[in-house]
Amino acid sequence: MPVKLICVGGARPNFMKLAPLCRALMADGTFDVRLVHTGQHYDDAMSGQFFRDLQLPDPAHHLQVGSGSHAHQTAEVMKRFEPVVLDEKPDGVLVVGDVNSTLACALVAKKLGCRVIHVEAGLRSFDRGMPEEINRLATDAISDLFLVTEASGAAHLAAEGVDPAKVVFVGNLMIDSLHFHLEQARNGSIRRKLGANGAYGLVTLHRPSNVDSSAQLEQIVAALAIIATEVPLYFPVHPRTRSRLEALVSSPRVQLVEPLGYIDFLGMMSGAQVVLTDSGGIQEETTALGIPCLTIRDNTERPVTIEEGTNRLAGSSRESILNAWREHQASPKQGRVPRFWDGQAAGRCREAISRFYGVI
Ligand code: UD1
Repeated sequence: MPVKLICVGGARPNFMKLAPLCRALMADGTFDVRLVHTGQHYDDAMSGQFFRDLQLPDPAHHLQVGSGSHAHQTAEVMKRFEPVVLDEKPDGVLVVGDVNSTLACALVAKKLGCRVIHVEAGLRSFDRGMPEEINRLATDAISDLFLVTEASGAAHLAAEGVDPAKVVFVGNLMIDSLHFHLEQARNGSIRRKLGANGAYGLVTLHRPSNVDSSAQLEQIVAALAIIATEVPLYFPVHPRTRSRLEALVSSPRVQLVEPLGYIDFLGMMSGAQVVLTDSGGIQEETTALGIPCLTIRDNTERPVTIEEGTNRLAGSSRESILNAWREHQASPKQGRVPRFWDGQAAGRCREAISRFYGVI
């Protein structure tokens, strides 16, 4: 009998991690994989386009939870996921990352006596004001197998008392997707379409702490307007930020564009001179590509991108962002690619999961 695994995806940053993993797990009959899409992200630009770009299989179950407050969204995922687990009776539920769907599905699975595998375990920002930090801590508190992307993940889990035998350093699945699609992305037409011919910078922002208050967002937009006098900026806008940004951005050199699919975003990122972002995954992707990244936050749960990679913390105020920009110009970071961010993480995940179930 194959090992039956439910793999859960819900939000945009989950999909590029699931694609290589599904390919590896579905390569033969050892695993029976059921993909569940919670529907936390539902716009075509945030979900459907990613399934097509990443060649993800159609989900076996789509829970269509949509948006809501944290409590509402988490509860809705739990209510709709429980009957799926009861019906499928899987040998395990695999969750990735730190979004609300990750925590909700881990809780449901564990309470039904099902084993939980957490991919991207152990990352910590030590900022409990971040919803993702709560999701990370709570998911790791009930997981059974911990697959980690960087050494800090294993160290945090050890400090929290997790048995090291349950922790495997597998590397970064997101970088598997990057390697898999990079050539296609570089050859794509998005730069031509957006008129990004010479040097340009790329911006993304979506964290509630940065975008939900107009006063805070004004600080960031003021810094972007100054940076844009030196290098034009392209800014694909997350749906939650759109209306506030449209009211604040006046510089014609800061171009607000629709959210981009995976291939188009990778095409823009791989050609950028610099990236300014508050995303977790983009800090990792820029490090893998060797492209300078200014992270518009005070902390990161991905310290290897700073210690070894091209990432720099820029804070969220106008002055701190401009300081980081000037430091970047004075001494751009070279960086190196962290261990196991080599495009082969899915194979190591498969091996770790196979050992966990004794099917190797
Ligand atoms: C979620 C994750 C965050 C991740 C981000 C990537 C949590 C707590 N947060 O944040 O960790 O970095 O995804 O994008 O899980 N919306 C749409 N269309 C969509 C999805 C969202 O318009 O397809 C809008 C809605 O107004 C919604 C808002 O965006 O209320 C926020 O969506 P939500 O899924 O709650 O959080 P994100 O900010 O996307």
